[in-house]
Amino acid sequence: MNKSMNLPDIALFTTEIAMEAGQLIKAQRDAGTVNTSYKAQHELVTSADIAADKLIIARIKEKFPEHRILSEETYTDRSQVSNLVDPIWIIDPIDGTVNYAHGHFMVAVSIAFAVAGEVQVGVVYNPFLDELFCAHTQGGATLNATPIQVSTETQLNKALIATGFPYNKSTVPEIVVRVETALMHCQDVRRLGSAALDICWVACGRLEGYFESLSPWDFAAARLIAQEAGAKCGHFNPVPDGIPACIYGEDILIANKTIYAELDKILQ
Ligand code: IPD
Ligand code: CA
Ligand code: CA
Repeated sequence: MNKSMNLPDIALFTTEIAMEAGQLIKAQRDAGTVNTSYKAQHELVTSADIAADKLIIARIKEKFPEHRILSEETYTDRSQVSNLVDPIWIIDPIDGTVNYAHGHFMVAVSIAFAVAGEVQVGVVYNPFLDELFCAHTQGGATLNATPIQVSTETQLNKALIATGFPYNKSTVPEIVVRVETALMHCQDVRRLGSAALDICWVACGRLEGYFESLSPWDFAAARLIAQEAGAKCGHFNPVPDGIPACIYGEDILIANKTIYAELDKILQ
């Protein structure tokens, strides 16, 4: 990494653009100027998703014109993440679009920066709760600048677990089986509607664990935040050879270390 890529500086820059995009999506919803439509027939997308995506990309291109970008709405070529050696930004302009469109508050802007083979900076900002989660590989995880840690709960039957459901309904039957298993073994199960926030809530101890299958932009930033807060971040099924585990989205499992082992056993 060259000197212009000092990680604390990149984390600060990422925070600034996540907050700017967060204020934009909040202002648009508060003003009632958001239009909704559908992509791939069933996936909700709003005018604010597109506006925030454009804003974040413009800021990154201004500062780092040579860096690659993977974003949910504009630069969607996922094959790019097979190479995390050269700099790449991974962006979800609104994680929790369905919540956003229904006036709920579990909504976040998620931005990750990867280089030298791994995600090095992650920022997740919820403008409705004004909560900013941030981490980089040289310095722990924070919530609104205060260090955070995963929960110390060790008993599965006292663990609160989150998960989510994909837009594509074909895998729902197998997911329902896992949800039932989790419900039988854990204190309870939540479906909060933003994977990035679910994972950040594991990082700050509001949840003990989380599992789901996701796209890279949903979790790239939050996974680093959880890891830096002491979570174990893995998968309850094997990761195929040649794909960096930190960006592989199938069968993700993130939890404090004791709960991870227990969940891993019951979810497989
Ligand atoms: C979705 C959310 C949701 C998860 C879905 C994601 P989006 O992202 O993270 O919690 O269950 O799998 O697609 O569409 O709101 O950016
Ligand atoms: Ca998402
Ligand atoms: Ca999104």
